[in-house]
Amino acid sequence: MTAARQDATQDSTDVLRVADLTKVYALHSPVISRLTRGGARDGQLRALDGVDLELRRGEILALVGESGSGKSTLAKILVGGQTATSGSVHHDGHPMPAHRDRDQRRRIQMVFQDPYSSLNPRISVGSMLRELLLLHRVVPRRDVRAESVRLLNLVGLEEDALEAYPSQFSGGQRQRLAIARALAVRPDVLIADEPVSALDVSVQATILELFASLQRELGLSILFVAHNLAVVQHLSHRVAVMYLGRIVEVAETAELFANPRHPYTRALIDSIPRMSVGSINEEFVLEGEPPSPFDVPAGCRFHPRCPYATDACRTTDPALADVAREHRSACLHASDLDAFDAAPDPRRSLEFGSPTTADLERVATTTTVTTTVTTTKDRSTSA
Ligand SMILES: Nc1ncnc2c1ncn2[C@@H]1O[C@H](COP(=O)(O)OP(=O)(O)OP(=O)(O)O)[C@@H](O)[C@H]1O
Ligand code: SF4
Ligand SMILES: [Mg+2]
Repeated sequence: MTAARQDATQDSTDVLRVADLTKVYALHSPVISRLTRGGARDGQLRALDGVDLELRRGEILALVGESGSGKSTLAKILVGGQTATSGSVHHDGHPMPAHRDRDQRRRIQMVFQDPYSSLNPRISVGSMLRELLLLHRVVPRRDVRAESVRLLNLVGLEEDALEAYPSQFSGGQRQRLAIARALAVRPDVLIADEPVSALDVSVQATILELFASLQRELGLSILFVAHNLAVVQHLSHRVAVMYLGRIVEVAETAELFANPRHPYTRALIDSIPRMSVGSINEEFVLEGEPPSPFDVPAGCRFHPRCPYATDACRTTDPALADVAREHRSACLHASDLDAFDAAPDPRRSLEFGSPTTADLERVATTTTVTTTVTTTKDRSTSA
Protein backbone atom coordinates (compact mmCIF):
# COMPACT_ATOMS: atom_id res chain seq x y z
CA MET A 1 0.00 0.00 0.00
CA THR A 2 2.96 2.31 0.52
CA ALA A 3 3.54 2.73 -3.22
CA ALA A 4 -0.13 3.43 -3.73
CA ARG A 5 0.03 6.16 -1.11
CA GLN A 6 2.91 7.80 -2.89
CA ASP A 7 1.20 7.61 -6.29
CA ALA A 8 -2.11 9.07 -5.21
CA THR A 9 -2.87 12.38 -6.82
CA GLN A 10 -3.66 15.13 -4.39
CA ASP A 11 -5.21 18.49 -4.83
CA SER A 12 -3.81 20.95 -2.36
CA THR A 13 -7.22 22.57 -1.83
CA ASP A 14 -8.71 21.93 1.59
CA VAL A 15 -12.07 20.20 1.53
CA LEU A 16 -12.52 20.61 5.29
CA ARG A 17 -10.86 23.10 7.58
CA VAL A 18 -11.36 23.61 11.29
CA ALA A 19 -9.98 26.62 13.12
CA ASP A 20 -9.64 27.16 16.86
CA LEU A 21 -12.32 24.57 17.52
CA THR A 22 -13.32 23.97 21.13
CA LYS A 23 -15.81 21.64 22.72
CA VAL A 24 -16.54 22.03 26.42
CA TYR A 25 -18.84 19.62 28.20
CA ALA A 26 -20.36 21.16 31.32
CA LEU A 27 -20.77 18.32 33.80
CA HIS A 28 -22.23 19.03 37.20
CA SER A 29 -22.09 16.37 39.86
CA PRO A 30 -20.69 16.07 43.38
CA VAL A 31 -18.49 13.20 42.20
CA ILE A 32 -16.86 15.38 39.53
CA SER A 33 -16.35 18.21 42.01
CA ARG A 34 -14.57 15.78 44.34
CA LEU A 35 -12.48 14.30 41.52
CA THR A 36 -11.35 17.69 40.28
CA ARG A 37 -10.86 18.94 43.86
CA GLY A 38 -12.29 22.27 42.86
CA GLY A 39 -9.34 22.75 40.46
CA ALA A 40 -11.53 22.69 37.38
CA ARG A 41 -14.03 25.36 36.53
CA ASP A 42 -17.09 23.67 37.97
CA GLY A 43 -16.88 20.43 36.00
CA GLN A 44 -15.99 21.92 32.61
CA LEU A 45 -14.43 19.18 30.53
CA ARG A 46 -12.44 20.58 27.61
CA ALA A 47 -12.66 17.75 25.07
CA LEU A 48 -11.34 20.00 22.28
CA ASP A 49 -9.22 22.99 23.15
CA GLY A 50 -8.29 25.00 20.06
CA VAL A 51 -8.05 22.47 17.25
CA ASP A 52 -6.62 23.68 13.94
CA LEU A 53 -6.63 21.16 11.10
CA GLU A 54 -7.35 20.81 7.40
CA LEU A 55 -8.35 17.80 5.32
CA ARG A 56 -7.15 18.12 1.76
CA ARG A 57 -9.12 17.00 -1.24
CA GLY A 58 -8.29 13.42 -2.19
CA GLU A 59 -6.10 12.59 0.79
CA ILE A 60 -6.27 10.14 3.64
CA LEU A 61 -5.45 12.07 6.79
CA ALA A 62 -4.88 9.95 9.89
CA LEU A 63 -5.91 11.35 13.26
CA VAL A 64 -4.02 9.57 16.02
CA GLY A 65 -3.99 9.95 19.79
CA GLU A 66 -4.58 8.03 22.97
CA SER A 67 -7.99 7.36 24.47
CA GLY A 68 -9.81 10.51 25.58
CA SER A 69 -7.71 12.88 23.46
CA GLY A 70 -10.83 14.11 21.63
CA LYS A 71 -10.71 12.24 18.30
CA SER A 72 -14.34 11.11 18.29
CA THR A 73 -15.54 14.49 19.51
CA LEU A 74 -13.82 16.14 16.55
CA ALA A 75 -15.22 13.49 14.18
CA LYS A 76 -18.77 14.03 15.47
CA ILE A 77 -18.52 17.79 15.07
CA LEU A 78 -17.25 17.37 11.51
CA VAL A 79 -20.24 15.25 10.50
CA GLY A 80 -22.66 17.58 12.29
CA GLY A 81 -23.60 15.13 15.04
CA GLN A 82 -22.45 17.59 17.71
CA THR A 83 -22.01 21.34 17.79
CA ALA A 84 -18.74 23.00 18.75
CA THR A 85 -18.61 25.38 21.70
CA SER A 86 -16.58 27.83 19.61
CA GLY A 87 -14.41 27.94 16.50
CA SER A 88 -15.27 27.24 12.88
CA VAL A 89 -15.71 24.39 10.42
CA HIS A 90 -15.44 25.19 6.70
CA HIS A 91 -16.42 22.75 3.95
CA ASP A 92 -15.23 23.62 0.44
CA GLY A 93 -14.50 27.11 1.70
CA HIS A 94 -18.00 27.66 3.10
CA PRO A 95 -18.77 27.88 6.82
CA MET A 96 -20.80 24.92 8.06
CA PRO A 97 -23.77 26.06 10.14
CA ALA A 98 -24.65 24.39 13.45
CA HIS A 99 -27.78 22.96 11.80
CA ARG A 100 -27.03 21.54 8.38
CA ASP A 101 -29.43 21.01 5.52
CA ARG A 102 -29.82 17.61 3.88
CA ASP A 103 -27.23 18.23 1.19
CA GLN A 104 -24.67 19.48 3.71
CA ARG A 105 -25.24 16.33 5.78
CA ARG A 106 -25.00 14.10 2.71
CA ARG A 107 -21.58 15.36 1.69
CA ILE A 108 -19.77 14.35 4.90
CA GLN A 109 -20.44 10.77 5.96
CA MET A 110 -19.19 8.73 8.90
CA VAL A 111 -18.18 5.11 9.37
CA PHE A 112 -18.25 4.06 13.01
CA GLN A 113 -16.03 1.76 15.02
CA ASP A 114 -18.62 -0.85 15.82
CA PRO A 115 -20.22 -2.44 12.75
CA TYR A 116 -22.60 -4.38 15.03
CA SER A 117 -24.42 -1.42 16.53
CA SER A 118 -24.17 0.92 13.54
CA LEU A 119 -26.54 -1.13 11.33
CA ASN A 120 -30.25 -1.59 12.02
CA PRO A 121 -30.72 -5.37 12.50
CA ARG A 122 -34.38 -5.23 11.39
CA ILE A 123 -33.78 -3.74 7.95
CA SER A 124 -32.43 -5.79 5.06
CA VAL A 125 -29.40 -4.50 3.18
CA GLY A 126 -31.50 -3.86 0.07
CA SER A 127 -34.07 -1.82 2.01
CA MET A 128 -31.36 0.15 3.78
CA LEU A 129 -29.71 1.17 0.51
CA ARG A 130 -33.02 1.77 -1.30
CA GLU A 131 -34.22 4.12 1.43
CA LEU A 132 -31.05 6.21 1.24
CA LEU A 133 -30.88 6.30 -2.55
CA LEU A 134 -34.49 7.49 -2.80
CA LEU A 135 -34.35 9.93 0.12
CA HIS A 136 -31.33 11.70 -1.34
CA ARG A 137 -32.55 11.25 -4.94
CA VAL A 138 -29.22 9.74 -5.90
CA VAL A 139 -30.67 7.76 -8.87
CA PRO A 140 -34.16 7.38 -10.40
CA ARG A 141 -36.35 4.73 -8.77
CA ARG A 142 -35.89 2.32 -11.69
CA ASP A 143 -32.10 2.35 -11.19
CA VAL A 144 -32.10 1.75 -7.45
CA ARG A 145 -31.38 -1.97 -7.61
CA ALA A 146 -28.54 -1.60 -10.11
CA GLU A 147 -27.04 1.19 -8.03
CA SER A 148 -27.33 -0.94 -4.87
CA VAL A 149 -25.49 -3.79 -6.57
CA ARG A 150 -22.82 -1.36 -7.78
CA LEU A 151 -22.32 -0.15 -4.20
CA LEU A 152 -22.06 -3.69 -2.85
CA ASN A 153 -19.51 -4.63 -5.52
CA LEU A 154 -17.55 -1.49 -4.70
CA VAL A 155 -17.01 -2.73 -1.16
CA GLY A 156 -16.38 -6.34 -2.19
CA LEU A 157 -19.84 -7.86 -1.61
CA GLU A 158 -22.10 -9.76 -4.00
CA GLU A 159 -25.63 -9.01 -5.19
CA ASP A 160 -27.18 -11.70 -2.96
CA ALA A 161 -26.34 -9.53 0.07
CA LEU A 162 -29.34 -7.34 -0.87
CA GLU A 163 -31.82 -9.85 0.57
CA ALA A 164 -29.87 -10.47 3.79
CA TYR A 165 -29.99 -8.82 7.24
CA PRO A 166 -26.96 -7.46 9.12
CA SER A 167 -26.97 -10.36 11.60
CA GLN A 168 -26.19 -12.75 8.75
CA PHE A 169 -22.80 -11.11 8.12
CA SER A 170 -19.45 -11.36 9.85
CA GLY A 171 -17.80 -8.32 11.47
CA GLY A 172 -15.66 -7.49 8.43
CA GLN A 173 -18.61 -7.84 6.07
CA ARG A 174 -20.75 -5.61 8.29
CA GLN A 175 -18.08 -2.94 8.17
CA ARG A 176 -18.15 -3.25 4.35
CA LEU A 177 -21.93 -2.74 4.50
CA ALA A 178 -21.47 0.32 6.72
CA ILE A 179 -19.02 1.73 4.17
CA ALA A 180 -21.45 0.99 1.30
CA ARG A 181 -24.19 2.81 3.23
CA ALA A 182 -21.92 5.84 3.71
CA LEU A 183 -20.99 5.84 0.02
CA ALA A 184 -24.59 5.47 -1.18
CA VAL A 185 -25.25 9.19 -0.88
CA ARG A 186 -22.06 10.05 -2.81
CA PRO A 187 -20.22 12.03 -0.16
CA ASP A 188 -17.00 13.84 -0.89
CA VAL A 189 -15.68 13.33 2.66
CA LEU A 190 -15.61 10.14 4.71
CA ILE A 191 -14.89 10.29 8.44
CA ALA A 192 -13.89 6.83 9.67
CA ASP A 193 -13.74 6.62 13.48
CA GLU A 194 -11.52 3.65 14.33
CA PRO A 195 -13.24 1.50 11.68
CA VAL A 196 -10.97 -1.51 12.19
CA SER A 197 -10.51 -1.45 15.98
CA ALA A 198 -13.42 -3.80 16.65
CA LEU A 199 -12.38 -6.29 13.96
CA ASP A 200 -10.29 -9.40 14.15
CA VAL A 201 -6.65 -8.87 13.16
CA SER A 202 -6.99 -11.10 10.09
CA VAL A 203 -9.80 -8.87 8.75
CA GLN A 204 -8.30 -5.48 9.53
CA ALA A 205 -5.80 -5.44 6.66
CA THR A 206 -8.54 -6.14 4.09
CA ILE A 207 -10.66 -3.25 5.40
CA LEU A 208 -7.63 -0.92 5.40
CA GLU A 209 -6.97 -1.92 1.79
CA LEU A 210 -10.61 -1.21 0.97
CA PHE A 211 -10.27 2.35 2.31
CA ALA A 212 -7.09 2.83 0.24
CA SER A 213 -8.73 1.59 -2.96
CA LEU A 214 -11.89 3.68 -2.40
CA GLN A 215 -9.77 6.78 -1.94
CA ARG A 216 -7.89 6.00 -5.15
CA GLU A 217 -10.88 5.07 -7.26
CA LEU A 218 -13.41 7.62 -6.04
CA GLY A 219 -11.02 10.44 -5.15
CA LEU A 220 -12.55 10.56 -1.67
CA SER A 221 -11.11 12.67 1.10
CA ILE A 222 -10.88 10.53 4.22
CA LEU A 223 -10.21 11.39 7.85
CA PHE A 224 -9.15 8.10 9.38
CA VAL A 225 -9.16 7.99 13.19
CA ALA A 226 -6.90 5.49 14.94
CA HIS A 227 -5.36 5.21 18.36
CA ASN A 228 -2.00 3.95 17.25
CA LEU A 229 0.35 4.87 14.45
CA ALA A 230 0.95 1.28 13.32
CA VAL A 231 -2.54 1.18 11.77
CA VAL A 232 -2.04 4.19 9.56
CA GLN A 233 1.64 4.03 8.68
CA HIS A 234 1.01 2.54 5.22
CA LEU A 235 -2.46 3.94 4.68
CA SER A 236 -2.39 7.69 5.18
CA HIS A 237 -0.85 10.53 3.19
CA ARG A 238 -0.56 12.72 6.28
CA VAL A 239 -0.85 12.19 10.03
CA ALA A 240 -2.22 14.55 12.68
CA VAL A 241 -1.32 13.70 16.26
CA MET A 242 -3.79 14.72 18.96
CA TYR A 243 -3.09 15.17 22.64
CA LEU A 244 -5.55 16.29 25.28
CA GLY A 245 -7.88 18.12 22.92
CA ARG A 246 -5.35 19.68 20.60
CA ILE A 247 -3.35 18.81 17.47
CA VAL A 248 0.30 18.74 18.58
CA GLU A 249 1.94 17.63 15.33
CA VAL A 250 0.92 17.24 11.70
CA ALA A 251 3.06 16.20 8.74
CA GLU A 252 3.20 13.95 5.71
CA THR A 253 3.38 10.35 6.91
CA ALA A 254 6.92 9.57 5.77
CA GLU A 255 8.20 12.87 7.16
CA LEU A 256 6.47 12.30 10.51
CA PHE A 257 8.06 8.88 10.93
CA ALA A 258 11.50 10.04 9.77
CA ASN A 259 11.58 13.35 11.59
CA PRO A 260 9.09 13.52 14.51
CA ARG A 261 9.19 16.97 16.07
CA HIS A 262 7.05 16.45 19.15
CA PRO A 263 8.05 14.24 22.11
CA TYR A 264 4.57 12.73 22.21
CA THR A 265 4.84 11.63 18.56
CA ARG A 266 8.26 10.18 19.34
CA ALA A 267 6.70 8.12 22.12
CA LEU A 268 4.01 6.85 19.75
CA ILE A 269 6.60 5.82 17.18
CA ASP A 270 8.81 4.21 19.84
CA SER A 271 5.86 2.13 21.00
CA ILE A 272 5.31 0.45 17.61
CA PRO A 273 8.10 -2.18 17.76
CA ARG A 274 6.95 -3.23 21.24
CA MET A 275 3.54 -4.16 19.97
CA SER A 276 2.73 -7.76 19.24
CA VAL A 277 1.36 -9.25 16.03
CA GLY A 278 -2.08 -8.03 17.00
CA SER A 279 -0.80 -4.48 17.30
CA ILE A 280 -3.73 -2.86 15.57
CA ASN A 281 -5.91 -3.60 18.57
CA GLU A 282 -3.38 -2.34 21.04
CA GLU A 283 -3.02 1.06 22.53
CA PHE A 284 0.15 2.67 23.77
CA VAL A 285 0.11 4.12 27.23
CA LEU A 286 2.71 6.65 28.26
CA GLU A 287 4.23 6.56 31.68
CA GLY A 288 2.97 9.17 34.05
CA GLU A 289 -0.51 10.13 35.12
CA PRO A 290 -2.58 11.20 32.10
CA PRO A 291 -3.71 14.77 32.77
CA SER A 292 -7.38 15.38 33.26
CA PRO A 293 -9.36 17.22 30.57
CA PHE A 294 -11.14 18.84 33.55
CA ASP A 295 -7.91 20.52 34.52
CA VAL A 296 -5.56 20.96 31.56
CA PRO A 297 -1.97 21.67 32.75
CA ALA A 298 -0.69 25.23 32.43
CA GLY A 299 1.98 25.89 29.84
CA CYS A 300 2.53 23.00 27.44
CA ARG A 301 -0.20 20.48 28.19
CA PHE A 302 2.28 17.62 27.67
CA HIS A 303 4.87 18.93 30.16
CA PRO A 304 3.95 16.67 33.15
CA ARG A 305 4.85 13.63 31.05
CA CYS A 306 7.55 15.07 28.83
CA PRO A 307 11.19 14.01 29.36
CA TYR A 308 12.36 17.11 27.49
CA ALA A 309 10.42 19.67 29.55
CA THR A 310 12.18 22.82 30.72
CA ASP A 311 11.03 25.73 32.86
CA ALA A 312 9.62 27.51 29.83
CA CYS A 313 7.38 24.52 29.10
CA ARG A 314 5.58 25.01 32.41
CA THR A 315 4.49 28.53 31.57
CA THR A 316 4.30 28.84 27.78
CA ASP A 317 1.55 27.13 25.80
CA PRO A 318 3.17 26.34 22.41
CA ALA A 319 1.16 27.04 19.26
CA LEU A 320 1.20 24.71 16.27
CA ALA A 321 3.95 26.22 14.12
CA ASP A 322 5.88 25.33 10.96
CA VAL A 323 9.04 23.34 11.65
CA ALA A 324 9.71 22.10 8.12
CA ARG A 325 7.91 21.99 4.78
CA GLU A 326 4.36 20.71 5.34
CA HIS A 327 5.27 19.94 8.94
CA ARG A 328 3.91 21.66 12.05
CA SER A 329 4.58 20.95 15.71
CA ALA A 330 3.36 22.46 18.97
CA CYS A 331 6.59 22.06 20.94
CA LEU A 332 8.82 24.86 22.23
CA HIS A 333 11.84 22.67 21.58
CA ALA A 334 10.77 21.17 18.25
CA SER A 335 14.08 22.17 16.67
CA ASP A 336 16.20 21.11 19.66
CA LEU A 337 14.94 17.59 20.37
CA ASP A 338 17.92 15.94 18.66
CA ALA A 339 20.27 18.04 20.76
CA PHE A 340 18.49 16.77 23.91
CA ASP A 341 18.91 13.20 22.69
CA ALA A 342 22.56 13.70 21.81
CA ALA A 343 23.28 15.03 25.29
CA PRO A 344 21.39 12.90 27.81
CA ASP A 345 23.39 14.45 30.65
CA PRO A 346 20.86 16.00 33.08
CA ARG A 347 22.74 19.28 32.79
CA ARG A 348 21.59 19.46 29.16
CA SER A 349 18.79 21.68 30.42
CA LEU A 350 21.32 24.47 30.84
CA GLU A 351 21.31 24.84 27.07
CA PHE A 352 17.69 25.83 27.27
CA GLY A 353 17.57 27.55 30.68
CA SER A 354 18.40 26.64 34.24
CA PRO A 355 17.11 23.21 35.22
CA THR A 356 14.88 22.95 38.26
CA THR A 357 15.43 20.32 40.94
CA ALA A 358 12.51 18.44 39.48
CA ASP A 359 14.21 18.51 36.06
CA LEU A 360 17.37 16.97 37.46
CA GLU A 361 15.53 14.29 39.41
CA ARG A 362 13.40 13.36 36.43
CA VAL A 363 16.27 13.16 33.97
CA ALA A 364 18.29 11.10 36.42
CA THR A 365 15.62 8.45 36.48
CA THR A 366 14.18 8.74 32.97
CA THR A 367 16.24 9.38 29.91
CA THR A 368 13.68 8.31 27.36
CA VAL A 369 9.94 8.22 27.27
CA THR A 370 8.94 4.74 28.33
CA THR A 371 5.88 3.18 26.85
CA THR A 372 3.93 0.14 27.83
CA VAL A 373 1.34 -1.62 25.81
CA THR A 374 -2.08 -2.59 26.96
CA THR A 375 -4.48 -4.70 25.03
CA THR A 376 -7.85 -3.09 24.52
CA LYS A 377 -10.94 -4.20 22.67
CA ASP A 378 -10.40 -7.92 22.30
CA ARG A 379 -13.45 -8.81 20.32
CA SER A 380 -13.36 -11.75 18.02
CA THR A 381 -14.88 -11.34 14.61
CA SER A 382 -14.18 -13.02 11.35
CA ALA A 383 -14.22 -11.87 7.74
N1 LIG B 1 -21.07 13.36 25.58
C1 LIG B 1 -20.05 13.59 26.42
N2 LIG B 1 -20.27 14.14 27.63
C2 LIG B 1 -19.24 14.39 28.46
N3 LIG B 1 -17.95 14.12 28.19
C3 LIG B 1 -17.68 13.56 27.00
C4 LIG B 1 -18.70 13.26 26.07
N4 LIG B 1 -18.13 12.69 24.96
C5 LIG B 1 -16.80 12.64 25.22
N5 LIG B 1 -16.53 13.17 26.43
C6 LIG B 1 -15.21 13.32 27.04
O1 LIG B 1 -14.43 14.08 26.14
C7 LIG B 1 -13.08 13.60 26.10
C8 LIG B 1 -12.74 13.21 24.68
O2 LIG B 1 -13.53 12.07 24.36
P1 LIG B 1 -13.47 11.40 22.92
O3 LIG B 1 -14.48 10.31 22.90
O4 LIG B 1 -13.58 12.44 21.87
O5 LIG B 1 -12.00 10.79 22.93
P2 LIG B 1 -11.32 9.77 21.90
O6 LIG B 1 -10.00 10.34 21.56
O7 LIG B 1 -12.26 9.47 20.79
O8 LIG B 1 -11.10 8.49 22.83
P3 LIG B 1 -11.18 6.92 22.42
O9 LIG B 1 -9.88 6.60 21.74
O10 LIG B 1 -11.34 6.24 23.73
O11 LIG B 1 -12.36 6.72 21.52
C9 LIG B 1 -13.01 12.43 27.09
O12 LIG B 1 -12.53 12.93 28.32
C10 LIG B 1 -14.46 12.00 27.21
O13 LIG B 1 -14.70 11.42 28.48
S1 SF4 C 1 7.00 22.25 24.80
FE1 SF4 C 1 8.31 21.35 26.35
S2 SF4 C 1 6.94 20.01 27.53
FE2 SF4 C 1 5.92 20.50 25.62
S3 SF4 C 1 6.40 18.82 24.28
FE3 SF4 C 1 7.93 20.44 23.90
S4 SF4 C 1 9.66 19.94 25.26
FE4 SF4 C 1 7.89 18.74 25.97
MG1 LIG D 1 -13.14 7.74 20.07
